[in-house]
Amino acid sequence: MRTQVCIIGGGPSGLLLSQLLHRKGIDSVVLERKTKDYVLGRIRAGILETGMVELMREAGVGARMDRECFVHDGTVISVGDDQFEVNFRDLIGAHVVVYGQTEVTRDLYEAREAAGGKIVFNVEGVQIHGADSDAPYVTYTVDGAEQRIDCDFVAGCDGFHGVSRQTIPLTVRKEYEKVYPFGWLGILSETPPVHDELIYASSDRGFALCSMRNENLSRYYIQCSLSDSPNDWTDAAFWEELKRRIPSDMADRLVTGPSIEKSIAPLRSFVTEPMRWGRLFLCGDAAHIVPPTGAKGLNTAASDIHYLYHGLVRFYADGDSAGLDGYSQKALARIWKAERFSWWMTSLLHRFPDQSEFDIKMQQAEIAFLRGNKAAQIAMAENYVGLPY
Ligand code: FAD
Ligand code: DHB
Repeated sequence: MRTQVCIIGGGPSGLLLSQLLHRKGIDSVVLERKTKDYVLGRIRAGILETGMVELMREAGVGARMDRECFVHDGTVISVGDDQFEVNFRDLIGAHVVVYGQTEVTRDLYEAREAAGGKIVFNVEGVQIHGADSDAPYVTYTVDGAEQRIDCDFVAGCDGFHGVSRQTIPLTVRKEYEKVYPFGWLGILSETPPVHDELIYASSDRGFALCSMRNENLSRYYIQCSLSDSPNDWTDAAFWEELKRRIPSDMADRLVTGPSIEKSIAPLRSFVTEPMRWGRLFLCGDAAHIVPPTGAKGLNTAASDIHYLYHGLVRFYADGDSAGLDGYSQKALARIWKAERFSWWMTSLLHRFPDQSEFDIKMQQAEIAFLRGNKAAQIAMAENYVGLPY
């Protein structure tokens, strides 16, 4: 088989790239290790920056998002019983939207299927060959048969555990990593959200986040120990702990119910450089990970796709490779700022096991400064709604 762009990974990055390229007449094949149901069953991100929203519209998949999303003009930050709002609209005239990654992925799959897009599921043993040559190709096995795809370019959209990043030799690749000494226990419940904006809560007992998917679907997280397993936490224990970490007026209003999903995510900051090696381009989680505080994971994947998509369109339109040549540098410049913001929000709001009383005072002073200082709030708002592409 031959295609112009072979895309490894059928998560949001790979699907979005494939759909955007299709709209410009550029052919691609997506190779996905899992089944479609498995990909759609993963509960992950919930907040979209404006740049990602515009990219979804440009990909022709914005209609349901525009109808069903919630526009959020601000977010609440709480410390114990104290709380304040950072209002993005008042500060910088911008907002974010609530629309789950599951819905983003579903819309993209539907669009690819409607357009007859080529997505191969259940692929095994994907290998990228000749990425540093003019004739790259990808091999894989599906239903026991070995297959080969020749292509112009390979997009490595296969997440943190994929093969694409590993294809870049260690003599070329440099990785930067920070692992945090805690995780997030998240639940999804068919209950109304406790508040109409998100609440990022710092407390003596650790961090908590109140988020949502729609008017009867809530997403809540609490900072937990890395040694915890979801089975250690009954629903009742989760709700009890959440209530102790959020302001009491919110806790009193919280509607609880059975969880329909419960999982633990570790927290990590990670960046690999460069994001391009020859004709292989890394996008999204394949190249970088942020801790979820700040909601940047899916949104940084989208900004990579924006740069790569425009680079490819320019290349196929008039043979100009400037966009592709500048991809790694441009993408990384924005990524590192999102890494900084996610690290900052994580450091500000969590309890660390080795934290001294002085460290805690520093966190409290920084939150107090943020509460009272418009410039600090503007800086937070600009980063939270997403830096320009
Ligand atoms: P992925 O979504 O990981 O997609 C990669 C795809 O490639 C997968 O479908 C995988 O099956 C496939 N694949 C992997 N290896 C191969 C292979 N060898 N061959 C073929 N296919 C392969 N972000 C937020 O902003 N907020 C959150 O609350 C949040 N929660 C998260 C919770 C968890 C548990 C995780 C893991 C991530 C979370 N994120 C969150 C981050 C966000 O979901 C990711 O940034 C986003 O999914 C990145 O999209 P992607 O397409 O680059 O990678
Ligand atoms: C969600 C997750 C986040 O990490 C975040 O910062 C905001 C919202 C969510 O899953 O809704």
